[in-house]
Amino acid sequence: MRVIQAASESQFIASAADHLCRHVLDHPGSLIAVPTGRTPLGLYHALRTRSDVELQALRTARYLNLDEYQGLGAGDPRSYADFLTRQLFTPLAIPALQVRLVHGDAHDSVAECEAVEAHIRECGGIGLAILGLGANGHIAFNEPGTPWSTRTHVAPLSHETLTVNERVAGGQVLPPRGLTLGIATLRAARRILLLAAGTSKREALAHLLDGEPQVDWPATSLIGHPDLTVLCAPELADVPAPGAGRAAGRAASLSPP
Ligand code: GLP
Repeated sequence: MRVIQAASESQFIASAADHLCRHVLDHPGSLIAVPTGRTPLGLYHALRTRSDVELQALRTARYLNLDEYQGLGAGDPRSYADFLTRQLFTPLAIPALQVRLVHGDAHDSVAECEAVEAHIRECGGIGLAILGLGANGHIAFNEPGTPWSTRTHVAPLSHETLTVNERVAGGQVLPPRGLTLGIATLRAARRILLLAAGTSKREALAHLLDGEPQVDWPATSLIGHPDLTVLCAPELADVPAPGAGRAAGRAASLSPP
């Protein structure tokens, strides 16, 4: 696990953008799994002003959202598909054929989850998964207690996640379930960039940096991943660094739940 502590908000954003741009330059056509939420907003905005070469490389990549609310189609302004289209795909002029959105409104959600997994396989796996972090340690919509063997699946959302997300969505009611890439799917990504921002993430980040895999803290499932970078925003600078914990960086495979 590589931990990068950003000294400022602008450094946090620049570091995330550098990471993504370097990846698409080195791995043209790679499949990138992208997050929603407040955390990646600065990154998505900053990408618009990258060099022409980097923008061109970003346009050769393929994209997949990490998760979606069950029942919401891409035209619904509450959907993650709509968020990503407005914040990332349209401003960067990413060709529509290179974007695979998880269809929250699919008639058969289980079949849609299987189709997402098939798409990942067809793309040769996820090259880079960019993740946010929930206050309760969730990654994508994998809530505490989710078995680490799960692939893309329909997930019930915790009361805490729904409450936070509805507040962020300006009080709109959100569906109680989501379709999400599973923990096994995310762990299989060749490279992972986890973005930790916001003081509410302190406890979740501390568990991740502590190095002790715990099923109640889904982000700790990433411990031991061969290419994991954790980028921390300045407000999280006081969270104990790896080495302070019992077994920093040890392989998650030693004790999967
Ligand atoms: C949602 C998303 C997650 C995201 C999390 C954090 O629940 N499903 O993928 O990482 O929120 O959001 P924020 O960045 O707004 O804190």
